Amino acid sequence: MKNYSLPPGYNFLQSLVRTYKQVKNPIGTIEESMKKFDGTYSVDLGARRLIATQNPGFIDYVLRTNHKNYHKSTIQTEELGRFLGRGLLTVNGDYWLKQRRLIQPGFHIDKIHALYGIIKKTVDDFLVTLPTGRIDVYPHMHKLAFEIVINSLFNIKVPQQTLDQLNDFINEVQEFVIKDLRQPYKSWWFKLSGEVKRNLNRSKNARKIILDIINARKQSNRKFNDLLDMLLDARYEDTGEPMHEDQVIDEILIVLIAGHETTANALSWTLYLLANHKQELNNLKAATKNLTLNEIAANDTLASVIKESMRLYPPAWISDRMALADDTYNGFTYPKGIVIILFYYGLHRDARYWPEPDSFIPARFAKENDDKRKPKAFYPFGGGPRLCIGNNFAMAEMAIFLQTMIHAFEINPTDIHPKANPLVTLRPDRVVLEIKKA
Ligand code: HEM
Repeated sequence: MKNYSLPPGYNFLQSLVRTYKQVKNPIGTIEESMKKFDGTYSVDLGARRLIATQNPGFIDYVLRTNHKNYHKSTIQTEELGRFLGRGLLTVNGDYWLKQRRLIQPGFHIDKIHALYGIIKKTVDDFLVTLPTGRIDVYPHMHKLAFEIVINSLFNIKVPQQTLDQLNDFINEVQEFVIKDLRQPYKSWWFKLSGEVKRNLNRSKNARKIILDIINARKQSNRKFNDLLDMLLDARYEDTGEPMHEDQVIDEILIVLIAGHETTANALSWTLYLLANHKQELNNLKAATKNLTLNEIAANDTLASVIKESMRLYPPAWISDRMALADDTYNGFTYPKGIVIILFYYGLHRDARYWPEPDSFIPARFAKENDDKRKPKAFYPFGGGPRLCIGNNFAMAEMAIFLQTMIHAFEINPTDIHPKANPLVTLRPDRVVLEIKKA
């Protein structure tokens, strides 16, 4: 075996102990190691070697500068892929590039403008049903994020029963994947007990539901100006052909899963932070009175609040990449096959890049402070060619919701503070607030 110069870190036994500790307290355990090894360390799990980093230069190198040498690990592709199919989030290489080129124009900011009306109507309808008093807003944000993404995909009235089936499928698959990842030693049991099969069957049902919607759309011969129209109308550059139905279904399932829980988390954390920072809430109210939808989506104060919330609580708190060939970064050399863990949460709270890192200070993201921020230290939507394709959509939907919410309701804190639950995304365990009509 070649001699590599890996970052300092843990030997095999220490790595096993860390991994066990990490199951119980992922963020705390990784933070402790980052402190000990100055932001980058290696882990030796025998057949599996890892490097974990919150170094902005290293993260940028993997995501952008030398991205061609990195694929997503099998956790992201195979685990999710077996239930969700081969959509943008779960594929690598040439097929990913082909799909990304096809779909990217549909998520361009100008195309997203056309969805603002759908988003606003969904928010208004949702707020009519929002209970007041002391409530946990998290399940409500989940419902809202799901409705926004469904209505933007299919600008038609989808029957409630169908919505419930799709929602259950997405939630159950996510729960199962988490369970499987956390307890890999039980994989045989999940197979034997029929749990894997049950989820595969649910996946088949969800695909059938979406296929029926696609067929109805094709027969209608009408335009609905939604994401489904965009996916059906997209043509491959080389052949001029559209996607096969199975590919359209794959991409719809991916948009449903990628665009749902991430947004629900970001909105819940943002409401929590605003409720607990009255001055920031009042500033935001003052800066967002009587705006058009385009003005809301372009409002700097709203964007700063959302970004600061995602700095403190990045919904995608961690990601990974696997090296396709031996590589070097900043004096370290490492072998093909090694997995690099990108610890965004740690970087977002690293005092070397963020003064007062644990404080909620939206103004640090204001346009006038652009040149004061350290570059490459903020990754709420990832980076490089695999940057979140829905980032403009997500920023717009969150801005439209928050603007509407803070003017229609009073939001007050309670004595209950949420705990961050780092699953695939960074969920709050609950966000109990006091909500009153304004
Ligand atoms: C606050 C909300 C959101 C956050 C924080 C978020 C975050 C991310 C991140 C970090 C990635 C990159 C993952 C990686 O590199 O490993 C990603 C990818 C992706 N996101 Fe989002 N996302 C959000 C909302 C959305 C929405 C609303 C959609 C769709 C409507 C969406 C669709 C996707 C897709 C399809 C990918 C895969 C892109 C590719 O690999 O080419 N996301 N997202």
